[in-house]
Amino acid sequence: ESAFIHRYEPATNAGSPPLLLLHGTGGDENDLLGLGKMISPGSALLSPRGRVLEHGMPRFFRRLAEGVFDEEDVRRRAHELGDFVADARRRYGIAAPVAVGFSNGANIAAALLLLKPEVLAGAILLRAMVPLSDPPRNDPAKADLAGKPVLLLSGQADPIVPASNSARLAALLSQAGASVTHKVLPAGHQLSQADVTLARNWIGNVD
Ligand code: MLT
Repeated sequence: ESAFIHRYEPATNAGSPPLLLLHGTGGDENDLLGLGKMISPGSALLSPRGRVLEHGMPRFFRRLAEGVFDEEDVRRRAHELGDFVADARRRYGIAAPVAVGFSNGANIAAALLLLKPEVLAGAILLRAMVPLSDPPRNDPAKADLAGKPVLLLSGQADPIVPASNSARLAALLSQAGASVTHKVLPAGHQLSQADVTLARNWIGNVD
């Protein structure tokens, strides 16, 4: 049940962390391979296609409207994606990956961080928003998010993600113990060259 159509490219540099590439709405498993190579040359790339279809467009969870999520589905799909990553790690023999998610893919990565933090070594969240209105409280008994590195890159003029929402996500992840770097770029919802440069520099400094 955790079968996802996906692409996998093995590492060509053992020192680079594996990346879990998570595309935006209407994308697929091929979309972010180029971005992944630019951000972290030599990393193993694991790139699933979202299993939810919205008018034929792949996504990682259902939504009721733009920015209004089916939170039961967010939870279910985050667990399903976590199971896929665990299976893929066994199959391909890779370490816990750093997620690189754009838009809907960044939102499911944020949900993974909040629900199953052990799945990810860290995350680059591009144009992410708060995925759950009632995220699990930080439970000191499982401080799995403690110190986990997260880079959140928001667009100052993003028509989909209000500045208050991305600020709330940054606060939520910090409160759960993540080591969050949040930058607001002079951009909209689409990615810019600055995203690539910042992501590449950030991942180069992760452990
Ligand atoms: C979402 O549905 O996850 C967000 O609205 C971003 C998008 O995919 O447009």
